[in-house]
Amino acid sequence: MSSQIIEKLIEDASRVLANSYSPYSGIRVAAAVRTRSGSTYLGVNVENSSYSLTICAERVAIFNAITHGDKEIEWIAIVTDLEDPIPPCGACRQVIAEFNPSANIVMYSVKSKKIQVTTLQRLLPMSFKLPKR
Ligand code: THU
Repeated sequence: MSSQIIEKLIEDASRVLANSYSPYSGIRVAAAVRTRSGSTYLGVNVENSSYSLTICAERVAIFNAITHGDKEIEWIAIVTDLEDPIPPCGACRQVIAEFNPSANIVMYSVKSKKIQVTTLQRLLPMSFKLPKR
C-alpha cells in the first residue's frame, strides 16, 4: 500500500518538475503532498531576483493543501533532477511539523532514481510548538 502511495507521489511531483522557476540557482525541486483524504497537492520552488523571497517547493505544496481546506498531511515527496535526493530545509521541516510532526518524507532523484524514505520525527525530533496558554 505505502509503496503505491510513494510511487504515485513521485510520479505526480515529477510531472511538474519542469515548472520549477529557478533561474538563479538552477536547482529544480517539486513536491507532492498527500493528505488523509487521499488527495494530492503539488508545488515547485519559485525563486525571485530578490533572492530571499524564494519559496521552496515543499511550502508551496503544503500551502496549496491548506488553501483547499485539507490540513491532514500524511506524506510529502520531494523530487529533484540532481544526482542525490534532497531533504527538506529546516524552515520547511518546521512548516510540515505544524500540520503533522510525524509525516512521512520521501526524497527522490529523477536523474539517479535514488530514493530515501524517512519521517519528520527523525528529521526534526524537537519541533517548536507554542506553549498552551
Ligand atoms: N529548495 C526547495 O525547493 N526545497 C528545499 O527543501 C531546499 C531548497 C529550493 C529553494 C531554491 O529555489 C533552491 O532550492 C536552492 O536553494
